[in-house]
Amino acid sequence: MDFKELVKAARTCRRFEENQPLTMADLEWLTDCARMTPSARNAQELRFILVGPGETCRKLFSLTRWAGALKDWGGPHPGERPTAFIAVLVPENGKELVCYDTGIACQTIQLAATSRGWGCCIIQVFDHKAVPELLGAPDGMKIALVLGLGVAREKRALAPVPADGSLSYWRDEEGVHHVPKRPLNEIVIKRF
Ligand SMILES: Cc1cc2nc3c(=O)[nH]c(=O)nc-3n(C[C@H](O)[C@H](O)[C@H](O)COP(=O)(O)O)c2cc1C
Repeated sequence: MDFKELVKAARTCRRFEENQPLTMADLEWLTDCARMTPSARNAQELRFILVGPGETCRKLFSLTRWAGALKDWGGPHPGERPTAFIAVLVPENGKELVCYDTGIACQTIQLAATSRGWGCCIIQVFDHKAVPELLGAPDGMKIALVLGLGVAREKRALAPVPADGSLSYWRDEEGVHHVPKRPLNEIVIKRF
């Protein structure tokens, strides 16, 4: 796939084929993609906890919050839940630059997942006390983000920003998830 098409397709995914679980080998492949990404000072301070299908995955799911903007949804519902997670850990007293490494790693995993027909949701809204306990995060490290993963089940599409300027994502009658993005001319503020 052309790279720009891959980027377009790599929309956040929140509904999955729960009956087609990812495997630990799939999670290792995704994390190996993140392993090779740029890192400030090449310090490579990120660590990852891989959660395949099973009880820990179900417990972790219950500690995460999805699609705050879709007030009436309350999903993902049974049958469409993620089948795996990757937790991204950073040092508790980490240098400021580690947050950039985190973003680069997460987006790389999201692109890699999309390239294989899988979906990914980067999640910051989770129980920041219970999740490290559940996963046994090592002393001195905190979980920055968790990535919900699975075979993608929902259609997602980019949209222009509507006239009222709202940047909220929405679902249409067919259940397609639309994500407005600002146009290039708005985000490029100068050209020399
Ligand atoms: C740092 C970060 C944290 C996010 N946290 C959540 C979250 O807690 N729950 C959720 O459903 N989506 C979360 N998202 C997904 C965003 O809602 C999503 O990226 C945004 O709606 C734009 O959609 P797109 O990824 O398809 O472009 C997060 C994304 C990022 C980058």
